[in-house]
Amino acid sequence: MAAGVGPAWGSFLGLLGLVSAAAAAWDLGLLSCSFGAFCECDFRPDLRGLECDLAQHLAGQHLVRQLVMKGLKAFVENPEPAKPLVMSFHGWTGTGKSYVSSMLVQYLFRDGMASPHVHHFSPVIHFPHAEQIEHYKSDLKQWILGNLTTCGRSLFLFDEVDKMHPGLLGVLRPFLGPSWVVYGTNYRKAIFIFLSNAGGEQINQLALDAWRARRDREELQLGDLEPAISKAIVDNPQHGFWQSGIVEDQLLDLLVPFLPLQRHHVRHCVINELAQLGLAQQQEDEVVQAVLDGTAFFPEEEQLFSSNGCKTVASRITLFL
Ligand SMILES: *[C@@H]1O[C@H](CO)[C@@H](O)[C@H](O)[C@H]1NC(C)=O
Repeated sequence: MAAGVGPAWGSFLGLLGLVSAAAAAWDLGLLSCSFGAFCECDFRPDLRGLECDLAQHLAGQHLVRQLVMKGLKAFVENPEPAKPLVMSFHGWTGTGKSYVSSMLVQYLFRDGMASPHVHHFSPVIHFPHAEQIEHYKSDLKQWILGNLTTCGRSLFLFDEVDKMHPGLLGVLRPFLGPSWVVYGTNYRKAIFIFLSNAGGEQINQLALDAWRARRDREELQLGDLEPAISKAIVDNPQHGFWQSGIVEDQLLDLLVPFLPLQRHHVRHCVINELAQLGLAQQQEDEVVQAVLDGTAFFPEEEQLFSSNGCKTVASRITLFL
């Protein structure tokens, strides 16, 4: 019967050996993960990839690129961060907040948005009923606690924070600072990202002022924008951070302003989108024109900034094609 075992079988058996060796290594990885404080789960940061992608595809946001890369580098390269990384993205609709956060997730976690360690919360989906606020508070706290116990390298993304019931996010406060202890894990390796339009009007106004003063858009620095954004959050009783202590206790590591987008930025978005769809370049100018024609600009007089950023680019392209 041995004669039946030809070269093909031999290589198959060899392969089996390799596979089981890999499986054993994988098991070991899992084992150390459930017991060690060094568990990194599927956290596989590729910061160079992220930097490249941002430089190529993110339209008109020099500050976002600088701040996010700097903040992430310092955090990821530190084996013992003193607190979780907490970032708050602010800006007008369609300026790239969701785009940047999904890009970030994609370059930080092997499985991207599908990773079991990436958690996305939206007020409309997860916390729709104001009268159930107490229930939501205890759920949210349990989820954060549970997920951090499973994996310290978790990412929590909170969408539309300006529509979150004020009072809900207060339960996060202990998790965002340096003093919370979660059994069996290093919760300080977690990342929290908050998205909101709050401060958007103020950012737009400052960008407009700069343009009117003939200052280069790239000259705008965080220091020019931060005070107005902080004030817009703290003064707004509808914002999810209202009296949560998050801003007051300085738990936000990075306030990231997204600037309003001009025509050439919208053009950039259209070109990205066409490339993403794998479409030929010939039609480019036509499509760009069609999208721009369908976009409203403000202020009335100067017609400078897109009123919904690049938000409708994708759907307009589909209409056009
Ligand atoms: C983790 O968070 C999700 C919500 O994103 C929740 O459904 C799940 O129960 C949490 N897991 C644990 C172990 O608490």
